[in-house]
Amino acid sequence: MSDRFTLIAPDDWHVHLRDGAMLENVVTHTARVFRRAIVMPNLSPPVITWAAAEAYRERILRALPSGEQFTPLMTAYLTDSTDPDDLEQGFKRGVFTAAKLYPANATTNSAAGVRDLDNIGAVLSCMQRIGMPLLIHGEVTDPDVDIFDREAEFINRHLRSLRQRFPELRVVFEHITTEQAVDYVGSADQGLAATITPHHLHINRNSMFSGGLRSDFYCLPVAKRERHRLALRRAATSGDPRFFLGTDSAPHSRAAKETSCGCAGIFNAPHALESYALVFDEEGAMDQLEGFASLHGPRFYGLPLNSTQVTLERRDHLVPEIINGLVPFHAADVLPWRVRSSC
Ligand code: DOR
Ligand code: ZN
Repeated sequence: MSDRFTLIAPDDWHVHLRDGAMLENVVTHTARVFRRAIVMPNLSPPVITWAAAEAYRERILRALPSGEQFTPLMTAYLTDSTDPDDLEQGFKRGVFTAAKLYPANATTNSAAGVRDLDNIGAVLSCMQRIGMPLLIHGEVTDPDVDIFDREAEFINRHLRSLRQRFPELRVVFEHITTEQAVDYVGSADQGLAATITPHHLHINRNSMFSGGLRSDFYCLPVAKRERHRLALRRAATSGDPRFFLGTDSAPHSRAAKETSCGCAGIFNAPHALESYALVFDEEGAMDQLEGFASLHGPRFYGLPLNSTQVTLERRDHLVPEIINGLVPFHAADVLPWRVRSSC
Protein backbone atom coordinates (compact mmCIF):
# COMPACT_ATOMS: atom_id res chain seq x y z
CA MET A 1 0.00 0.00 0.00
CA SER A 2 1.35 3.37 -1.01
CA ASP A 3 2.16 6.00 1.58
CA ARG A 4 0.31 8.67 -0.32
CA PHE A 5 -3.24 8.73 -1.50
CA THR A 6 -4.58 11.52 -3.70
CA LEU A 7 -8.26 12.09 -4.33
CA ILE A 8 -10.53 14.71 -5.84
CA ALA A 9 -11.17 17.24 -3.08
CA PRO A 10 -14.06 16.02 -0.90
CA ASP A 11 -17.22 17.75 0.33
CA ASP A 12 -18.97 17.40 3.66
CA TRP A 13 -22.67 16.76 3.02
CA HIS A 14 -23.74 17.39 6.64
CA VAL A 15 -22.05 19.74 9.11
CA HIS A 16 -22.93 22.07 12.00
CA LEU A 17 -20.87 25.25 11.74
CA ARG A 18 -22.73 27.08 14.55
CA ASP A 19 -22.59 30.87 14.77
CA GLY A 20 -20.73 33.72 16.50
CA ALA A 21 -17.40 32.93 18.17
CA MET A 22 -17.89 29.17 17.81
CA LEU A 23 -18.34 29.56 14.02
CA GLU A 24 -14.90 31.15 13.68
CA ASN A 25 -13.35 28.33 15.71
CA VAL A 26 -14.85 25.48 13.73
CA VAL A 27 -15.27 26.57 10.10
CA THR A 28 -11.50 26.65 9.51
CA HIS A 29 -11.26 22.93 10.20
CA THR A 30 -13.97 22.05 7.70
CA ALA A 31 -12.64 24.46 5.06
CA ARG A 32 -9.10 23.07 5.37
CA VAL A 33 -10.10 19.88 3.58
CA PHE A 34 -13.65 20.13 2.26
CA ARG A 35 -14.45 22.41 -0.68
CA ARG A 36 -18.20 22.54 0.00
CA ALA A 37 -20.43 21.63 2.90
CA ILE A 38 -24.13 21.29 3.51
CA VAL A 39 -24.65 23.53 6.53
CA MET A 40 -27.27 22.56 9.09
CA PRO A 41 -29.85 25.23 9.99
CA ASN A 42 -30.51 24.32 13.65
CA LEU A 43 -29.26 27.60 15.08
CA SER A 44 -31.14 29.40 17.80
CA PRO A 45 -33.32 30.83 16.32
CA PRO A 46 -33.35 28.37 13.41
CA VAL A 47 -32.67 29.35 9.79
CA ILE A 48 -36.16 29.22 8.32
CA THR A 49 -36.34 31.80 5.51
CA TRP A 50 -34.06 32.35 2.54
CA ALA A 51 -33.22 35.82 3.86
CA ALA A 52 -31.99 34.30 7.14
CA ALA A 53 -29.99 31.70 5.20
CA GLU A 54 -28.38 34.37 3.03
CA ALA A 55 -27.36 36.35 6.12
CA TYR A 56 -25.95 33.20 7.76
CA ARG A 57 -24.01 32.35 4.59
CA GLU A 58 -22.44 35.83 4.73
CA ARG A 59 -21.40 35.29 8.34
CA ILE A 60 -19.79 31.97 7.41
CA LEU A 61 -17.88 33.51 4.51
CA ARG A 62 -16.67 36.35 6.74
CA ALA A 63 -15.43 33.84 9.34
CA LEU A 64 -13.22 32.03 6.81
CA PRO A 65 -9.48 32.61 6.70
CA SER A 66 -8.73 34.85 3.71
CA GLY A 67 -8.16 33.07 0.42
CA GLU A 68 -9.93 29.88 1.55
CA GLN A 69 -11.91 28.30 -1.30
CA PHE A 70 -14.94 27.00 0.53
CA THR A 71 -18.60 27.14 -0.45
CA PRO A 72 -21.25 26.79 2.25
CA LEU A 73 -24.41 25.19 0.85
CA MET A 74 -27.35 26.42 2.88
CA THR A 75 -30.39 24.52 4.13
CA ALA A 76 -33.85 25.55 5.30
CA TYR A 77 -35.13 24.40 8.68
CA LEU A 78 -38.64 23.06 8.07
CA THR A 79 -41.39 23.92 10.54
CA ASP A 80 -45.12 23.17 10.59
CA SER A 81 -45.68 26.55 8.99
CA THR A 82 -42.86 26.79 6.44
CA ASP A 83 -43.97 28.90 3.49
CA PRO A 84 -43.53 26.90 0.25
CA ASP A 85 -43.15 30.13 -1.74
CA ASP A 86 -40.23 31.32 0.40
CA LEU A 87 -38.61 27.90 0.06
CA GLU A 88 -39.05 27.88 -3.72
CA GLN A 89 -37.72 31.41 -4.04
CA GLY A 90 -34.69 30.57 -1.88
CA PHE A 91 -33.96 27.48 -3.97
CA LYS A 92 -34.36 29.30 -7.29
CA ARG A 93 -32.13 32.15 -6.11
CA GLY A 94 -29.41 29.63 -5.25
CA VAL A 95 -29.52 30.42 -1.53
CA PHE A 96 -31.02 27.11 -0.42
CA THR A 97 -29.53 23.86 -1.66
CA ALA A 98 -31.86 21.63 0.38
CA ALA A 99 -34.32 21.62 3.29
CA LYS A 100 -33.90 19.82 6.59
CA LEU A 101 -36.62 17.91 8.37
CA TYR A 102 -36.13 17.69 12.12
CA PRO A 103 -38.99 15.89 13.82
CA ALA A 104 -39.88 18.29 16.68
CA ASN A 105 -37.71 17.64 19.75
CA ALA A 106 -35.64 14.89 18.12
CA THR A 107 -32.31 16.62 18.77
CA THR A 108 -30.43 19.90 19.47
CA ASN A 109 -32.54 23.00 18.69
CA SER A 110 -35.31 21.03 17.08
CA ALA A 111 -38.20 22.29 19.23
CA ALA A 112 -39.49 24.31 16.26
CA GLY A 113 -39.26 21.28 13.96
CA VAL A 114 -42.10 19.41 12.29
CA ARG A 115 -44.74 17.94 14.61
CA ASP A 116 -46.62 15.99 12.00
CA LEU A 117 -45.59 15.23 8.41
CA ASP A 118 -49.15 15.97 7.32
CA ASN A 119 -48.45 19.61 8.19
CA ILE A 120 -45.84 19.94 5.45
CA GLY A 121 -47.59 18.19 2.56
CA ALA A 122 -47.64 21.35 0.42
CA VAL A 123 -43.97 22.00 1.17
CA LEU A 124 -42.95 18.48 0.18
CA SER A 125 -44.94 18.58 -3.02
CA CYS A 126 -43.31 21.92 -3.88
CA MET A 127 -39.85 20.44 -3.21
CA GLN A 128 -40.66 17.41 -5.34
CA ARG A 129 -41.76 19.67 -8.21
CA ILE A 130 -38.67 21.91 -8.15
CA GLY A 131 -36.16 19.11 -7.45
CA MET A 132 -35.09 20.39 -4.02
CA PRO A 133 -33.62 17.61 -1.83
CA LEU A 134 -35.14 16.78 1.56
CA LEU A 135 -32.63 15.93 4.29
CA ILE A 136 -34.09 13.90 7.12
CA HIS A 137 -33.12 13.43 10.74
CA GLY A 138 -34.74 10.01 10.79
CA GLU A 139 -35.78 9.26 14.36
CA VAL A 140 -39.22 8.98 15.90
CA THR A 141 -39.70 11.11 19.01
CA ASP A 142 -42.29 8.92 20.69
CA PRO A 143 -40.92 8.49 24.24
CA ASP A 144 -42.37 4.99 24.36
CA VAL A 145 -39.94 3.88 21.66
CA ASP A 146 -36.54 2.76 22.97
CA ILE A 147 -33.88 5.28 21.94
CA PHE A 148 -31.89 2.53 20.19
CA ASP A 149 -34.92 1.67 18.03
CA ARG A 150 -35.95 5.18 17.02
CA GLU A 151 -34.22 5.19 13.64
CA ALA A 152 -35.54 1.79 12.53
CA GLU A 153 -39.00 2.80 13.72
CA PHE A 154 -38.83 6.02 11.70
CA ILE A 155 -38.41 3.97 8.52
CA ASN A 156 -41.49 1.92 9.29
CA ARG A 157 -43.71 4.67 10.62
CA HIS A 158 -42.76 7.55 8.32
CA LEU A 159 -40.14 7.07 5.64
CA ARG A 160 -41.83 4.34 3.62
CA SER A 161 -45.12 6.23 3.41
CA LEU A 162 -43.42 9.57 2.73
CA ARG A 163 -41.60 8.05 -0.23
CA GLN A 164 -44.79 6.47 -1.51
CA ARG A 165 -46.59 9.80 -1.32
CA PHE A 166 -43.71 11.70 -2.96
CA PRO A 167 -41.96 9.18 -5.21
CA GLU A 168 -39.97 11.79 -7.14
CA LEU A 169 -38.76 13.67 -4.05
CA ARG A 170 -35.00 13.41 -3.61
CA VAL A 171 -34.30 12.32 -0.05
CA VAL A 172 -31.12 12.04 2.02
CA PHE A 173 -31.47 9.90 5.13
CA GLU A 174 -28.91 11.69 7.29
CA HIS A 175 -26.26 10.12 9.58
CA ILE A 176 -27.63 6.59 9.44
CA THR A 177 -26.72 4.33 12.35
CA THR A 178 -28.47 0.98 11.82
CA GLU A 179 -28.38 -2.04 9.55
CA GLN A 180 -32.11 -1.44 8.93
CA ALA A 181 -31.26 1.96 7.41
CA VAL A 182 -28.41 0.46 5.37
CA ASP A 183 -30.77 -2.20 4.00
CA TYR A 184 -33.56 0.26 3.31
CA VAL A 185 -31.34 2.73 1.45
CA GLY A 186 -29.39 -0.03 -0.29
CA SER A 187 -32.56 -1.46 -1.80
CA ALA A 188 -34.07 1.87 -2.83
CA ASP A 189 -34.12 3.56 -6.21
CA GLN A 190 -32.06 6.55 -7.35
CA GLY A 191 -34.02 9.12 -5.35
CA LEU A 192 -32.76 8.02 -1.93
CA ALA A 193 -29.27 8.29 -0.44
CA ALA A 194 -27.70 8.36 3.03
CA THR A 195 -24.82 10.08 4.74
CA ILE A 196 -22.57 8.25 7.19
CA THR A 197 -20.47 9.95 9.90
CA PRO A 198 -16.92 8.97 10.83
CA HIS A 199 -17.85 8.40 14.46
CA HIS A 200 -20.56 5.87 13.67
CA LEU A 201 -17.95 3.92 11.70
CA HIS A 202 -15.60 3.85 14.70
CA ILE A 203 -17.68 3.57 17.86
CA ASN A 204 -20.54 1.44 19.07
CA ARG A 205 -22.80 2.10 22.03
CA ASN A 206 -20.31 0.68 24.54
CA SER A 207 -18.07 3.69 23.92
CA MET A 208 -20.53 5.96 25.73
CA PHE A 209 -20.14 3.91 28.92
CA SER A 210 -16.53 2.78 28.80
CA GLY A 211 -15.06 3.31 32.27
CA GLY A 212 -17.73 5.88 33.14
CA LEU A 213 -20.22 8.13 31.37
CA ARG A 214 -18.41 9.43 28.28
CA SER A 215 -20.26 12.46 26.98
CA ASP A 216 -17.71 12.94 24.18
CA PHE A 217 -19.22 9.90 22.48
CA TYR A 218 -22.82 11.00 22.92
CA CYS A 219 -24.51 12.14 19.74
CA LEU A 220 -27.88 11.71 18.06
CA PRO A 221 -28.79 9.31 16.67
CA VAL A 222 -26.85 7.45 19.36
CA ALA A 223 -24.30 4.85 18.33
CA LYS A 224 -25.86 1.38 18.23
CA ARG A 225 -24.68 -2.23 18.71
CA GLU A 226 -21.53 -3.54 17.05
CA ARG A 227 -23.43 -5.31 14.27
CA HIS A 228 -24.84 -1.98 13.15
CA ARG A 229 -21.40 -0.37 13.10
CA LEU A 230 -20.16 -3.24 10.92
CA ALA A 231 -23.12 -2.81 8.53
CA LEU A 232 -22.28 0.89 8.22
CA ARG A 233 -18.65 0.07 7.45
CA ARG A 234 -19.72 -2.34 4.73
CA ALA A 235 -22.07 0.26 3.21
CA ALA A 236 -19.56 3.11 3.29
CA THR A 237 -16.78 1.07 1.72
CA SER A 238 -18.98 -0.80 -0.77
CA GLY A 239 -18.75 1.69 -3.63
CA ASP A 240 -22.56 1.96 -3.68
CA PRO A 241 -23.23 5.57 -4.80
CA ARG A 242 -26.21 5.87 -2.44
CA PHE A 243 -23.84 6.20 0.52
CA PHE A 244 -21.66 9.26 0.94
CA LEU A 245 -19.71 11.39 3.39
CA GLY A 246 -21.45 13.62 5.93
CA THR A 247 -19.48 14.22 9.11
CA ASP A 248 -22.27 15.61 11.31
CA SER A 249 -19.47 17.43 13.13
CA ALA A 250 -21.47 19.06 15.95
CA PRO A 251 -19.35 20.98 18.48
CA HIS A 252 -20.55 21.90 21.95
CA SER A 253 -18.58 23.65 24.69
CA ARG A 254 -17.15 21.53 27.52
CA ALA A 255 -19.69 23.05 29.88
CA ALA A 256 -22.56 22.06 27.59
CA LYS A 257 -21.27 18.50 27.22
CA GLU A 258 -20.41 17.96 30.88
CA THR A 259 -23.52 18.81 32.81
CA SER A 260 -26.44 16.86 34.24
CA CYS A 261 -28.15 17.11 30.85
CA GLY A 262 -25.28 17.11 28.36
CA CYS A 263 -25.69 18.05 24.70
CA ALA A 264 -25.53 15.54 21.86
CA GLY A 265 -22.82 16.05 19.28
CA ILE A 266 -19.28 15.02 18.34
CA PHE A 267 -16.76 17.54 17.01
CA ASN A 268 -14.92 15.61 14.32
CA ALA A 269 -14.12 18.36 11.79
CA PRO A 270 -10.37 18.66 12.59
CA HIS A 271 -9.58 15.07 11.51
CA ALA A 272 -12.68 13.93 9.64
CA LEU A 273 -11.07 12.80 6.39
CA GLU A 274 -8.25 11.13 8.31
CA SER A 275 -10.84 9.32 10.42
CA TYR A 276 -12.65 8.02 7.34
CA ALA A 277 -9.33 7.08 5.73
CA LEU A 278 -8.47 4.89 8.72
CA VAL A 279 -11.76 3.01 8.29
CA PHE A 280 -11.30 2.50 4.54
CA ASP A 281 -7.69 1.41 5.11
CA GLU A 282 -8.72 -1.08 7.81
CA GLU A 283 -11.38 -2.48 5.47
CA GLY A 284 -8.87 -2.80 2.60
CA ALA A 285 -10.98 -0.38 0.58
CA MET A 286 -8.86 2.75 0.04
CA ASP A 287 -9.86 2.54 -3.63
CA GLN A 288 -13.47 3.29 -2.60
CA LEU A 289 -12.65 6.37 -0.49
CA GLU A 290 -12.75 8.85 -3.37
CA GLY A 291 -16.22 7.70 -4.43
CA PHE A 292 -17.59 8.02 -0.91
CA ALA A 293 -15.87 11.33 -0.13
CA SER A 294 -15.81 13.16 -3.45
CA LEU A 295 -17.99 11.59 -6.17
CA HIS A 296 -21.26 10.17 -4.86
CA GLY A 297 -22.40 13.33 -3.03
CA PRO A 298 -22.00 15.78 -5.95
CA ARG A 299 -23.68 13.30 -8.27
CA PHE A 300 -26.69 12.97 -5.98
CA TYR A 301 -26.98 16.75 -5.59
CA GLY A 302 -26.40 17.34 -9.32
CA LEU A 303 -23.30 19.46 -8.68
CA PRO A 304 -19.93 19.39 -10.48
CA LEU A 305 -17.02 17.49 -8.98
CA ASN A 306 -14.38 19.65 -7.34
CA SER A 307 -11.49 20.60 -9.59
CA THR A 308 -8.77 20.44 -6.92
CA GLN A 309 -7.24 17.46 -5.15
CA VAL A 310 -6.29 16.50 -1.63
CA THR A 311 -3.45 14.19 -0.66
CA LEU A 312 -3.45 11.94 2.37
CA GLU A 313 -0.05 10.93 3.66
CA ARG A 314 0.65 7.92 5.86
CA ARG A 315 2.18 9.67 8.85
CA ASP A 316 1.30 9.18 12.52
CA HIS A 317 -0.46 12.21 13.92
CA LEU A 318 -1.33 12.69 17.59
CA VAL A 319 -4.76 14.27 17.91
CA PRO A 320 -4.71 17.02 20.56
CA GLU A 321 -6.92 16.62 23.60
CA ILE A 322 -8.42 20.07 23.05
CA ILE A 323 -8.73 22.17 19.89
CA ASN A 324 -10.00 25.73 20.23
CA GLY A 325 -11.46 24.82 23.62
CA LEU A 326 -13.37 21.85 22.15
CA VAL A 327 -12.67 18.15 22.58
CA PRO A 328 -12.22 16.64 19.10
CA PHE A 329 -13.20 13.13 18.08
CA HIS A 330 -10.13 10.84 18.44
CA ALA A 331 -8.72 13.12 21.18
CA ALA A 332 -5.33 11.75 22.32
CA ASP A 333 -5.40 9.00 19.66
CA VAL A 334 -2.72 8.57 17.04
CA LEU A 335 -4.19 8.58 13.54
CA PRO A 336 -2.08 7.00 10.78
CA TRP A 337 -3.14 9.34 7.94
CA ARG A 338 -2.87 13.10 7.65
CA VAL A 339 -4.08 15.43 4.92
CA ARG A 340 -0.98 16.86 3.31
CA SER A 341 -1.94 19.55 0.90
CA SER A 342 -4.58 20.87 -1.43
CA CYS A 343 -3.56 22.08 -4.84
O1 DOR B 1 -25.51 14.73 17.82
C1 DOR B 1 -26.12 15.61 17.22
N1 DOR B 1 -25.81 16.91 17.37
N2 DOR B 1 -27.15 15.24 16.43
C2 DOR B 1 -27.96 16.15 15.87
O2 DOR B 1 -28.89 15.75 15.20
C3 DOR B 1 -27.75 17.60 16.11
C4 DOR B 1 -26.38 17.89 16.51
C5 DOR B 1 -26.22 19.27 17.10
O3 DOR B 1 -26.66 20.24 16.48
O4 DOR B 1 -25.61 19.40 18.15
ZN1 ZN C 1 -26.47 16.94 12.30
